[in-house]
Amino acid sequence: MQNKLLLIFLVFFVCACKTKEKEEKTEKQLVEAFTEQYRPQFHFTPEEKWMNDPNGLVYHEGTYHLFFQYYPDDIVWGPMHWGHAISTDMVHWEHKPIALYPDGHGLIFSGSAVVDKENTSGFGKDGKPPLVAIFTYHSMEGEKAGRNDFQTQGIAYSLDNGATWTKYEGNPVIGNEGIRDFRDPKVFWHEGSQSWVLVLVAGDHARFYTSKNLREWEYRSSFGKNQGAHGGVWECPDLFPLFVEGEEEPKWVLLISINPGAPNGGSGTQYFVGEFDGNRFISDQKEPKWLDYGTDNYAGVTYNNVPNDDRIFIGWMSNWDYARDTPTKKWRSAMTLPRRLTLGRHKGEYLLANYPLPQIATLAATELLGSTKISTEGAQTFSIANLNQSQIRLRTASKDFELVFKNDMGETLELTMDSNSNAFLLDRMNSGQVNFQPEFGNKKHYMPIEFLTDGHYEIDIYLDWSSIEVFLDRGLLAMTDQIFPSQPYTALEVHNNDGEEAMELVFVKKMPSIWP
Ligand code: FRU
Repeated sequence: MQNKLLLIFLVFFVCACKTKEKEEKTEKQLVEAFTEQYRPQFHFTPEEKWMNDPNGLVYHEGTYHLFFQYYPDDIVWGPMHWGHAISTDMVHWEHKPIALYPDGHGLIFSGSAVVDKENTSGFGKDGKPPLVAIFTYHSMEGEKAGRNDFQTQGIAYSLDNGATWTKYEGNPVIGNEGIRDFRDPKVFWHEGSQSWVLVLVAGDHARFYTSKNLREWEYRSSFGKNQGAHGGVWECPDLFPLFVEGEEEPKWVLLISINPGAPNGGSGTQYFVGEFDGNRFISDQKEPKWLDYGTDNYAGVTYNNVPNDDRIFIGWMSNWDYARDTPTKKWRSAMTLPRRLTLGRHKGEYLLANYPLPQIATLAATELLGSTKISTEGAQTFSIANLNQSQIRLRTASKDFELVFKNDMGETLELTMDSNSNAFLLDRMNSGQVNFQPEFGNKKHYMPIEFLTDGHYEIDIYLDWSSIEVFLDRGLLAMTDQIFPSQPYTALEVHNNDGEEAMELVFVKKMPSIWP
C-alpha cells in the first residue's frame, strides 16, 4: 500500500515538474518574441517562419486585413498558405490563424480580396456581403510532371470578416491554356463599366478579364509585351486610378513587379501611367519607371475598399536574390511601412510618389535631437543610443552630402547625394552582416535624382533593426534596403559638401515598438 502511495506521489511530482517546465518555456518564448536580434520593432513580421508577398489587402468594417504568402513549417519558402493579420490603424497588427490552406488544386499563391457589397457572387447570406479572395492555385504535381498549365485562379469567401474561409466548389474560375507563369490576380470593382476587373500576369505581359459575379471571367485584353522592363518574369500586378495633383482628370497606374531585372539587381517594382476603359489598359510609356530604387521592396500592391479612395501600398521588404539567406532564425522577412501613393507631374513626367502614412510619423513622440544646422561645407557627428529604431528628417537644397551611420563595431551605412553623377547612393557593403549571400553586399545602390525638386526638399529616413527606408521629397524618390548591423548604430555623421546650401537636421525621433 505504502509503495503504491509513493508511486502515485512520484508520478504526480514528475507531472507537476513537467507542467512547470512547460509554463516556464512558454514564458521564455513570450519574453523572446519580438525582441530577437534583427526583429523589426515597427514593421510587420510574422510571429515565426517564412513570409513573402502581401496578399488580399482589403479594408472591411473598420479592419485592415493583411494576408501574406506564408509557409508555417520552415523559415525558407515552401508550400504556400495565406497567413493573416489585422489592424485598425495600419500601425499595430494582430496575428490571426492561417486563412487559406493548400488543397487538391494546389498551393495558394498570391492574389487579392474584395468586399462584394451587392452580393454579385451569391456567396453572401442574410444580407451580409461576403469578402471574396481571388488567388493563384499552383499545382506542384503539374509542375513536376513538366506541364505548362499548373497555375490556375481560384476563389474563396468569408462571411465573418476574414476569420474563416470557404473555397468555391467551382474552382478553378480561370483555367490555364498552357502559360507557364500565369498568376497573381488583382481584382477591383470598376464603376464605369459596372463590372469586376481582374488583372494577372502571364510571363512577359499583363492580362485583363472582366466578370459580373466573380465566378465567370471573360478575357478582354493584354498589355506590355513591348513596354517597360523585361529582365525577368512579371509578377504581382495592380491597377488603380489616381487623381493627378492639381489636375481634374485621373490617370490609371499599373504596378508590375519584376524578378530579376530591377535597377539595382534582383526583384523590383515598375509602374506604367496610362488609361483604362474597363477592358483595355494603354500607355505610351516605353521605358520603365520604378516605385522604389532599393533592393528590398517587392511584390507590393494596394488596398481595396479604403475610405476616401486612399491608395495604401504595402510591399514585401526582401529580394528573391537573397530572401532565403538573411540572418534571422525564428522568422524571415518583414513588410515595408504602409505608404500612401500619389500621382504628380514633375518636369513634364507623371511620377508616382510613395510616402509613409501620417500615423506612422506621429507614432514617434520622443525627440532625441532637435533642429540643428549644418553649415555649408560643414560636418557634425551626433551620438544617439540606438538609431535602429528612429525616424530622421533633414531639410536642404544641398545636392552634395553624406550621411553616415556608425556603430561600435566599425560598421557603417552610408547615404550619399552627389550632384556630379546626379545620383543618390546607398552603400551597405560594410553595414553589418553582409556575407550570407554574394548579391547582398556587393555594390552601392543607385537612384537617379533628375526629378528631384530644385530648391528645398525633405529627406525622411526610417531605421528599424534590420531595414532602412529613405524618402526624398515626400516620397517622390524612395529607397528601401535591408541591413543587418551586428549592433545598433549609435552615431550619425552629416557631411555637407555643398558650398552654397546649408542643411537642417530637423529632428531625430525614437520610434516606439508596435508590439505589446
Ligand atoms: C512573387 C511571387 C508570386 C507568387 C508568389 C509565390 O514574389 O513569386 O508571383 O504568387 O511569390 O510565393
